[in-house]
Amino acid sequence: MTNIFSKYTLGNLTLSNRIVMAPLTRGRANNAEHIVTPLISEYYKQRATAGLIISEGSQISPMAVGYQNTPGIYSKQQTEAWKQITKAVHDEGGKIFIQLWHVGRVSHPDFLDGKLPLAPSAIKFDYNARTPSGPKPAPTPHQMTVEEIKEVVGEFKIAAKNAMEAGFDGVEIHASNGYLLHQFIAPCSNVRTDDYGESYENRCRILFEVIDEMKKVMPENKIGIRLNPSYHNDHGMFLTEDTIPTFDFLIDKLNNYNLAYLHLSEPGRRAKESSFAETQIAKRYRKIYKGTLMINRGFTYESGTKIIKEGNADLVSFGVPYIANPDLVRRFENGFPLAEADTSTYYSIGAKGFTDYPDFKA
Ligand SMILES: Cc1cc2nc3c(=O)[nH]c(=O)nc-3n(C[C@H](O)[C@H](O)[C@H](O)COP(=O)(O)O)c2cc1C
Repeated sequence: MTNIFSKYTLGNLTLSNRIVMAPLTRGRANNAEHIVTPLISEYYKQRATAGLIISEGSQISPMAVGYQNTPGIYSKQQTEAWKQITKAVHDEGGKIFIQLWHVGRVSHPDFLDGKLPLAPSAIKFDYNARTPSGPKPAPTPHQMTVEEIKEVVGEFKIAAKNAMEAGFDGVEIHASNGYLLHQFIAPCSNVRTDDYGESYENRCRILFEVIDEMKKVMPENKIGIRLNPSYHNDHGMFLTEDTIPTFDFLIDKLNNYNLAYLHLSEPGRRAKESSFAETQIAKRYRKIYKGTLMINRGFTYESGTKIIKEGNADLVSFGVPYIANPDLVRRFENGFPLAEADTSTYYSIGAKGFTDYPDFKA
């Protein structure tokens, strides 16, 4: 019988189980080139027993950055550096996708050589960017011209090409958590009146353009997408009566592609306070989406096992549990207790709270 430890066929890959390491920004690429390092390689290698690892969000261009010490995948040097990580994970028998990220307005000129962050519309929102010199309010962003939109679409394509060259098994498009692609999808951050605004079709247009461009440089069945139809959180995003119908349209349209997977999240505490939140995301979109469904947020061994058994998801991703439990799969298999992650080292520099969490010793 299928359970969370059963193998899973993802395109032309065989995952050794259905436990996925969710993307986790850890801020250890503390160098001027934004390249990944041997320490980061060690971190992913330690976690390679996951059926699939999705890397931390990785910027597709210098304008895509919103946090300190996050790695990029736009330059030759960055692409070369990622090779040590894909090799380390593959040598351990694991699989790894890279998450492609453009933060859009969730940034600050301090990260962008003094330029204003890019966004679908010039809407000011309440957010403090974590700049190197402390928290600073995000400014009103620059409304992208159509030309700038096309440029960003092209940057996703180049990043996808680089990811293939670096040896990744696939890529995940980050279209969630209030970042650029999500900003286009949501009417609270997109009030454009051109081809990229107003209707569902127009607000989702950039995402389909990104997929169509990426398909030119990599197989469609290696492209995953992260969406969150119940995201209601910081980054100035809130749910409206339009949110779920928009995602119903978008996710149904994804059926026209043969993608690796759709990665969704169940709502968090704050979303549940909104009357517009869908509280059963996997259940709803299992009926609409015909491909592989990966579900996230708040899962435990028990609830992950349950949702797979019920057939409402194919894969379950774990975020925080992977920070302090590199051997999460083995702990689940043996009923070993889970270690607690130290939140103070989530985004700090160095090995502490990063690679120094040991495997469980019985
Ligand atoms: C330290 C930290 C960094 C994160 N970085 C990312 C990221 O880079 N990209 C992303 O899509 N989600 C990111 N997330 C969200 C996680 O992928 C996941 O959705 C969240 O932790 C909830 O899942 P969980 O309950 O299993 O932890 C991050 C979460 C944490 C705690």
